[in-house]
Amino acid sequence: MKPLNPIATGFGESVFTTLTRLANQAGAINLAQGFPDFDGPEWIKELAIDAIKTGPHQYAPSMGAISLRQGLADFYLEQYKLSLDPAQEILVTVGASEAIYSTIVALLAPGEELLCFEPLYDSYLASARLHGVKICPVTLPFPGLEIDWDRMEDLCGPKTKALILNNPHNPTGKVFSQAELEKLALFAQKHDLYVICDEVYEFLTFETPHIPLASLPGMRQRVVTISSMGKTLSLTGWKIGWAMGPHELIKPIHHVHQFITFCLAHPLQIALANTLPRLKTYLPEFRAQYFKKRDYLIQGLTSLGFKPQRPQGTYFLLAQVPNGQTDVSFSQELIHTKKVAALPLSSFYLESNQGTQLIRFCFAKKMETLSLALNQLRGGL
Ligand SMILES: Cc1ncc(COP(=O)(O)O)c(C=O)c1O
Repeated sequence: MKPLNPIATGFGESVFTTLTRLANQAGAINLAQGFPDFDGPEWIKELAIDAIKTGPHQYAPSMGAISLRQGLADFYLEQYKLSLDPAQEILVTVGASEAIYSTIVALLAPGEELLCFEPLYDSYLASARLHGVKICPVTLPFPGLEIDWDRMEDLCGPKTKALILNNPHNPTGKVFSQAELEKLALFAQKHDLYVICDEVYEFLTFETPHIPLASLPGMRQRVVTISSMGKTLSLTGWKIGWAMGPHELIKPIHHVHQFITFCLAHPLQIALANTLPRLKTYLPEFRAQYFKKRDYLIQGLTSLGFKPQRPQGTYFLLAQVPNGQTDVSFSQELIHTKKVAALPLSSFYLESNQGTQLIRFCFAKKMETLSLALNQLRGGL
């Protein structure tokens, strides 16, 4: 038989799948997995049931259900004063993941280069590689996680086409400051780069409000903002995402999207359109719930001798592994001796080896789950 595409066969099993398998085999509490162990509100599920009962059940417009695009345009105008034309500047996708892939394919040609901060979310690398795009990583050095501007300048060459920015940032929990975003905006303009902004945790910032890069002066024309509702509504399996930006950029992204998935499940789009007007009251409760979880886990881990880093956003936090251990050996030890799984970080890096000293805990878990995990880590199995 002829060999298959080496890019695809080279991917192997993701670290998330491996850890989940190991955690399940050991009967461990899984704080490695990056999604909630609870479901979003009943009233949103009811909206989905209503939408399934009433339809429509045929293909949605490929750009997305009109009511959802209009709802998103209204929502973003009120939230960040971002003005978007729902007819041409908002594209509904199957989760942020599809938006990321379609955007990379639409904006970059094979052989071109994409700047990216590491640790990096794994789908950026996979999407870029599948399309023959080179990822150029800029390490955010732990624990300060500041941007290395000299490295950014050094990496920027004639083939550099775009920067991908995840803000708030998985896995570090960093929220890029206004000053950093302003400098990134100037950098993008100076080097004529597009910026792909993955903002799936936009509603999960703790001390500071989220600032979309697209809202900064001079950026609207060069930014594609990607987000999704999975994390925010604790309904990750619904996979409702979107890409927003100027028509000139959304148009080719739509053209790619129409040949990959064409559209997302129509009734779920209607359910989300009907959810959006109620987000204003939902979001403060949502954030308050995560404040509690974050502080509870930090306090618990600190009392056990861990040195967790306080995240400014997302539902992840990083902790250093003890001297003499690696991320992989320590996470395996935790699974086997404490029956708690945390995610080793080395696979989030292309260049730096600092991930070998870091593990990620996810606190998108019920308080009982977090309490049980801390109890087990304390040795009270
Ligand atoms: C940074 C980041 N981007 C994108 C995604 C994927 O989002 P979705 O489930 O909407 O495809 C995730 C999911 O974990 C994520 O952490």
